[in-house]
Amino acid sequence: MEYLEIKGQKPLEGTVKISGAKNSALPNMAAVILTDEPVVLENVPYLLDMFTMKHLLEHIGVEINEESEGKFSFMFREVNSLEAPYELVSKMRASILVLGAMLTRFRYAKVALPGGCSIGTRPVDLHLSALEKMGARITVEHGYIIAHAPNGLKGAYIKFPKITVTGTENIIMAAVLAEGETVIENPAKEPEVVDLVHMLKKMGADIKGEGTEKIVIKGVKKLSGTSHSIIPDRIEAGTFAVISALSGGRIVIDNYPFEYLEFVHRTLEKIGVSVIPLGKRQALIKKEEKLKPISIETKEYPYFPTDLQAQFMTMLSTVEGLSVITENIFENRFMHVPELKRLGADIKIDGKKAYIRGVKKLSGAQVKATDLRASAAMVIAGLTAEGTTRIYDIYHLDRGYENIDIKLKSLGAEVHRGFEEQ
Ligand code: EPZ
Repeated sequence: MEYLEIKGQKPLEGTVKISGAKNSALPNMAAVILTDEPVVLENVPYLLDMFTMKHLLEHIGVEINEESEGKFSFMFREVNSLEAPYELVSKMRASILVLGAMLTRFRYAKVALPGGCSIGTRPVDLHLSALEKMGARITVEHGYIIAHAPNGLKGAYIKFPKITVTGTENIIMAAVLAEGETVIENPAKEPEVVDLVHMLKKMGADIKGEGTEKIVIKGVKKLSGTSHSIIPDRIEAGTFAVISALSGGRIVIDNYPFEYLEFVHRTLEKIGVSVIPLGKRQALIKKEEKLKPISIETKEYPYFPTDLQAQFMTMLSTVEGLSVITENIFENRFMHVPELKRLGADIKIDGKKAYIRGVKKLSGAQVKATDLRASAAMVIAGLTAEGTTRIYDIYHLDRGYENIDIKLKSLGAEVHRGFEEQ
């Protein structure tokens, strides 16, 4: 099986460029289903999830060409299938994002029910109940969501009892071609949701209130093509801010999305790490001699993102004193804790809370990546631990971080990919 081997405690320096956001590229790719005119997406990151979404769109009937690095053209003239098969959906839960677009345009969609993953059961009940409010008739049979809207979807008043990122994105895509007005109360405000809306508006959608407590969408008859550039990945940027803080702070981060990381920067300041703007989109990370323990609560945007929780826990595991992290979004997002303990961390879990008592240093060991962001935490641990760390199950890493080993090598890290017979 493939692994990543890292020799720890190498001083890193140089410039690293943040790639396009995975969680923006995925809904923006699904949105091409909404038009029969050409769409061009730029700054698409080369990640496993992108290729899974590409395969799914091609299966549905979208022609996709790579124009140049990170630039893809999409043309959806003829439906091949209105089914998102299990073998693709099981690889990537975000496949659910084609449901709203297929249903509103073709009045039918059959999408495999996404399974859970290591961080939680990941239900989609809020997606389905909102689509039913818009007139869809939905059954779940043999592991498939079967949705009909024989008279087309109708605008509706949707109040999400809980904030859901892809749920908000699915309903926005369903509403842009529905008949009448849709109001979404308590929507997700993540930058990736706002980026999807910006792209849909360029296609002719009538949407107001993105990024606020209420989004209002007036359905239109047809959407046109457009070209759109994917926003930088704030989670990759936050990950590299932690890496830089722990490795001597001589890394310049390029294409850095300051505006999406305000709360994360305030959290870093409390620990003793500052993010210094070098230019419009460049950041230098500086840390004080002695970092301070803190408490962190994950919450929906604009607060502290759950997708940076594992990375910050790794940083805090060598900060003297007691830090506390509360994971409020997912019910099982502490899978990286046992792996960090193999590296010498002193962490105790009690329900949603993890109590991290800083140790002098981590020491290299064999560990495994348990989910996408936990794998980044293992990389951070390996870079700072004494000795060598070998990370298994690194397909998780490749799902969310574009060429992270190549980026780290360019900064002077001793990282290499290896393969071990099963
Ligand atoms: C999106 O997942 C992201 N994925 C996740 O990023 C991210 O961790 C998550 O939002 C939270 O920010 C993409 O955007 C592709 P949710 P999503 O629906 O939309 C519950 C990564 O690392 N819920 O906002 O699936 C759910 O169980 C990935 O890139 C329901 O109960 O998350 C969770 O507890 C991991 N019913 C909470 O809401 C539903 O119908 C938030 O989930 C939907 C969600």
